[in-house]
Amino acid sequence: MHFLTNFLRPKIVFTKLCTPKLVKQEIIKKYDFLNRVNFHINYLIILELVNSLSQQKKSITNSLTSCHELPTSCFANVETKETTPESREHSKLPLQKIIIKPGKRNQSKIYHLRNLNNWIKNMLIIEYITKIREHHPSSGDSLRVLEMCCGKGGDLLKYSKQNIAHLICTDIAEISLNQCKKRYYRLAQSCQSCFSAEFFLSDCSRDRLRAQYKSPWLEHHLVSCQFALHFSFESYQQADCMIRNASECLQSGGFFIATIPNANEIMRRLRESSDGRSFGNEYYNLQFLSDTQPPPIFGAKYLFQLEGVVDCLEFLVHFPTLVKLCRKHGLQLDKVNSFSEYFEASSKRGENLLRKTECLQTVYIEKDSKIEENFSHIENFANENQCWSNNYGTLSKPEWEIATLYLVCAFRKCDNTWDDELNPIYNFDS
Ligand SMILES: C[S@@+](CC[C@H](N)C(=O)[O-])C[C@H]1O[C@@H](n2cnc3c(N)ncnc32)[C@H](O)[C@@H]1O
Repeated sequence: MHFLTNFLRPKIVFTKLCTPKLVKQEIIKKYDFLNRVNFHINYLIILELVNSLSQQKKSITNSLTSCHELPTSCFANVETKETTPESREHSKLPLQKIIIKPGKRNQSKIYHLRNLNNWIKNMLIIEYITKIREHHPSSGDSLRVLEMCCGKGGDLLKYSKQNIAHLICTDIAEISLNQCKKRYYRLAQSCQSCFSAEFFLSDCSRDRLRAQYKSPWLEHHLVSCQFALHFSFESYQQADCMIRNASECLQSGGFFIATIPNANEIMRRLRESSDGRSFGNEYYNLQFLSDTQPPPIFGAKYLFQLEGVVDCLEFLVHFPTLVKLCRKHGLQLDKVNSFSEYFEASSKRGENLLRKTECLQTVYIEKDSKIEENFSHIENFANENQCWSNNYGTLSKPEWEIATLYLVCAFRKCDNTWDDELNPIYNFDS
């Protein structure tokens, strides 16, 4: 599998950290509305963040940079040597003898990528709801979830399948939130004991969500923010507000889960790009609009364009900073995985769902047949493993390049006691 192992070879980025001076200048330049006192407090917090970055940088980047192989599942009537443990070890591919219907041609060029993203979200939700139920058996059927930046409600069905009791949905975009509501009402009509739900418009990075809950004293078991947390990294204040919103009504032992762009991977591709400011393929383009050497910790702005779906400004999430911010609000890092790592770790557990939701494109290959360049990895795989006349499940190279731009992460809310001034003192494991 020469191609697969060379493809998107990971490297560690953020070799130069923002110095405190740079961070300070960046803040002065961009957020001059801060009064001096506020600035001083925030600057001290950021200094503290920056001081601890080197240490955290090592562990986080190490855990994020291992595997970027394209997923290749071998489908149908295959009884050949590529499924032996040895060859599996050699190729590092998730070979599963699962059967799906031969791929149908779909409307969107990124149909399978979108399905894969949904599968990843689903697996993350299932994983953490299961954990919560294991650790808090009393939560049973009374599980409460907050979905920040819910969009059009693409995850409603996922929660319905997990038998949660209550869902709070909020988003900054009215049209999306209305669609989410409609979807919920349709769902509630179609199932007998659907969870209850509330919806409200808000900017999760500026408003205090708790003030808008019907029952602000009720604690959530799970908070989810999918493909959206990065918007708050425009500024320290916004990111801080977002994380505070995620944490403040979360029960101790509850989880905050998110999917975000992987800043290390973005910076690696940027460094390898011809102009040092943009990269992409036929389906997506990412163009930096702010400094890149190094990017500021907050406000590292880029334009992300994705085939017929997205065209918007986003901000790099410096992961060690996110971890620090979360700790400030009593959230301890539980998991961080690149999408490819998470795919690999979960594909066995989520095999049925992977098949049912058509996450992978089915490609049929005959000996000596030529297939299009976007699927040449399958040809290489079949040649190396001498396994032709089979259906393979995979993603096209350009789609996989997009999928591997992201990571999943999860944080656990810690217990706390209170100091004399009633500030929480969190009990982190380490
Ligand atoms: C890429 S969509 C993801 C939607 C949904 N979470 C999903 O996974 O399908 C990003 C969503 O975040 C919302 N959003 C962005 N910034 C926000 C903010 N500050 N507060 C609330 N919602 C926000 C957008 O309106 C959009 O619906």
